[in-house]
Formats: sequence, C-alpha cells, structure tokens
Amino acid sequence: MDFRLKTLTAREAASTEADALILLWPDAWDGSDAAQADPLTLWARQALVDGDLQPEPGQWLAAHRLPEVRPRRVVLVRCGDGSPRRVRQAVTTAFGALKAGAPVRSLVLQLGELSSLAVCAAAQAVAEASYRYTTTLSQPQPRALSAVTVGVARQEAVQSAFDEAVAIVRGQELAKEWANRPANHATPADLADAALALQSRSIEVDVLGPKEVAKLGMGAFLAVAQGSEQPLRFIILRYRGAPKAVAPVVLIGKGITFDTGGISLKPPADMDEMKFDMSGAASVLGTFEALAQLRPALNVVGLIPACENMPGGRSVKPGDVVRSLSGQTIEILNTDAEGRLILCDALTYAQRFAPRAMIDVATLTGACVIALGHVRSGLFATDDGLAQALLDAGDAVADPCWRLPLDDDYGEALKSSFADVANVGGRAAGLVTAAKFLQRFVGQTPWAHLDIAGTAFKSGKDKGATGRPVPLLVRYLLDEAARIQVDTPRAPRRGRRAVTA
Ligand code: BES
Ligand code: MN
Ligand code: ZN
Repeated sequence: MDFRLKTLTAREAASTEADALILLWPDAWDGSDAAQADPLTLWARQALVDGDLQPEPGQWLAAHRLPEVRPRRVVLVRCGDGSPRRVRQAVTTAFGALKAGAPVRSLVLQLGELSSLAVCAAAQAVAEASYRYTTTLSQPQPRALSAVTVGVARQEAVQSAFDEAVAIVRGQELAKEWANRPANHATPADLADAALALQSRSIEVDVLGPKEVAKLGMGAFLAVAQGSEQPLRFIILRYRGAPKAVAPVVLIGKGITFDTGGISLKPPADMDEMKFDMSGAASVLGTFEALAQLRPALNVVGLIPACENMPGGRSVKPGDVVRSLSGQTIEILNTDAEGRLILCDALTYAQRFAPRAMIDVATLTGACVIALGHVRSGLFATDDGLAQALLDAGDAVADPCWRLPLDDDYGEALKSSFADVANVGGRAAGLVTAAKFLQRFVGQTPWAHLDIAGTAFKSGKDKGATGRPVPLLVRYLLDEAARIQVDTPRAPRRGRRAVTA
C-alpha cells in the first residue's frame, strides 16, 4: 500500500482523484470559517445546521457524488478532541462505512490541523482497517486499497512522524503475516527464511541449526525442540546503524511455531491459537523491517529461538533435568512452560553482545491474559529507566504495556530438589514467576520482558494477529537512538570505549 503525505486544503482534497474521501472533523473546528466556501466545508456546515450530523466523536455522514467533489464517495466523521485515540476510532468507523460499497482502491484521508501523533494514528487505522490475510486461501480477496493520500495543513511539520508511522505499519504487517500463517506454513525453517529475506545493506542474518545449537550448549532450547520432526532454528539478526563500539539493544522473540504443550498436552479447545506462539519472533522480524526503512543511528541485535513444542517418543518429559547454556540446571516440571526454556538460553547468548539493554518479547503465560486482558502487554524490568522508556513508547503509539513486580519472594515458587531451578511455580502470579525464571539468566544487563500473550492476537470472530508490539518496539528504538545521539554527539575515537549504558 502506497501512503503519501500532502499539504491539502479542503478544496484541494475535494479535487483530488480518488475513489473515496474521508474528512475528519475535530471539535476545535466549528465550521464557521466563512472564507472556506469550498464544497466539502459547505456540505459539512450544512449537515451540522440541519442537525444531520451530531457533534459526538464517531458520528458520521456519507454522501455520494457531491457536486464539485471528485471522489465519488465521501464520509465525514467527527473526531472529538483530535487525540490519537479519537482519530483512530474515527478513521476505523469511516472506513467501515465505506466497506459496504464498491471496493475502495484509492483514498484521500483529509486530516487538516491534527497533531503528529494523530496523523500517525490515522495512518495506522487505515492500514488496520484495510488489512486482509491471504496466504493460505485458494481464492484470496486481497486488500483493495492500494493508494492513500493523507491531507494535512502543513506537510513539513508532520513528515518525519508520518514516515515513522508508515514504517511501523509495514513492520506490523510483516509481523501479522507471519503470526497469522498456520504452523505448517510457518515452520522454524520458514521463519529463518523470512529473516534471511530481510538481509540488506543494513541488516545481516545468521541462522543456526540443531547441531550448532547443541555445540553451543543450549540444553534448555534443545529440550523443547527434541520432540518435533521440524528441526529448530536459532536466528540472529543484526541491524547496524551506529559505529561498532556503540553497544546494541538486543531484542529476543519467542518463536514457538506451534505449542501443543508437549507431554503436558494442552486441551483441544482453541489449541489452533497456539500457532500464534511465535508472535514475539514475528514482532522482532517486523521491527527489523521498520529499522531497514528508517535507518536510525543505533545498533540492534535480534535473536529468535524457533521450534515446535510437540509430544512424541523423543519429547522431554515432566521431571527431566536439563542443563541450560548458563550452566544452571532446570527441572522441567511442566513441558507446557516451554517459552521460558527457549528464552533463557537466548538471554544467556545475548550477553555476548554486551548489550546496553535486552528486551524479550513472548506470548509467555495465560496468567498474563487473566491479569491484563487484551489491552496492555505485561512489562517486567530490572532497570527503571528502561521500564519508563518502554511505557512511554507504548503510550505514544497506542501499544501500551503495564509494569509488574519482580520481588525476589516470587522466585521462591521455582525451588526444585533435583535441579537449580524448576520451570514452573504454582498457579499464583504465574506471569510473575515466569518472569522471575527468566531473570535468573539476565546477569547484570538491563533487561525487560514483555508478556504479549493477551495482546499479540485476537480470538473469536476477529481471530488474527495484531502485529503488537511492533509499534512499541520501533518507537522505543527511535527514542533510544535519539538518546544515544545526545550521549555521543560525535563518532567515537579509536581505542576508546565510546558508549556506556
Ligand atoms: N504459549 C503459552 C501461553 C499462552 C497462553 C499464550 C494463552 C497465549 C495465550 C505458554 O507456553 C504456556 O503454555 N504457558 C503455560 C504456563 C504454565 C504451564 C505454567 C500457561 O500459561 O498455562
Ligand atoms: Mn506452552
Ligand atoms: Zn507457549
């Protein structure tokens, strides 16, 4: 989909060639500006005078073949205070109104005076509303919308924010695509291929297989993968946007391409949704896609442990003890708590990059869905600055998270008589004990964990991946690049440590 940003008056928007036009109307504009005697404004004002368009946010009015307006279909929609949230809702509503008719291939989205964040929200909402999954349909109905012209009061003022929004949309759509693909169309090897396809001037990708992972000593990761016919992959992505000496941010995505639970088998109801158990991995891929487009000045490493969790004659069994890459032994009491097993080895591996921060992203616990539902992702962090940066990034792009505690007392539940640690605690605070398990593997590196079990996908009639938390991650990385720039205004001199966290 082609997004274009333009400075447009209402009159210019009306004379732009397109199938449809959506006109946003914030409260701040009362329609009384007499100088604007353009056809759209006159229509909008008259609708208000006639009482045919109530001022409440989300109220809308559609018209067909308005005189002197080139797009055949026009939807006028109220967007309240013009906040990102209201704008998103308004655009979703207006696009929904257009869906009933002939396919909209080209659209003018006339926003006027809105803030940068609201413009981003609008772009995201159009992408979201027009998205279609097609990969495994024999007669796909692809997204009709191919060109969106976003009209604003001053293009220069919002151009960079708009470019970021478009890159986020692209990354989010890549994440959705991979998360939505069924497990037989998204094997660990397929995920590795998806990563390799991202290789470019700024992105390098390495892929390890079972032999290499065994040689490294990732006993926990291997234990999960050993029950499957699909060989595991350990995917390493490197984005280079700053000098080598600048410590990278490491992103780690849980890549369980299907989670049956293993020998601790899950019940059949909704088990198909466990194809989404690689949403963390998909969000890392999506984030790298956005990085390739935006080229921010920082270094980022992506790590994706990818495998299936299957029951079988070779599967790991409850009670088995394995040795992790860190050297710690783990008693696997429940094979369905597999995410933390693949992540712990990736967290240990991550430390070889001497990262400024590492963030793992995982559909880790059903308990997180119970605690926070489908609105906020669970956030855990050992570093207050990192936690705040992620909270702020999520709020800015409507991909919010909420911080949860890491008191050591929660870790007591993981005690084992047969290994250094057990992979499950009890039912109580299951999302926290999962995080406490991971924390044992982070060393001194500032670390954050995002539990996206409730936010990465939707169930029921809207079943599908959301592409979260790509917006949060990209926003955080752009903010981090800006912070690095302030810390190190010039390129570092040779032989000196350039950056401290
Ligand atoms: N992938 C699941 C968590 C999950 C559940 C994600 C629902 C999305 C929606 C994870 O591997 C898992 O099975 N967790 C167990 C842990 C338990 C055995 C301690 C859970 O949450 O039940
Ligand atoms: Mn599981
Ligand atoms: Zn899982």
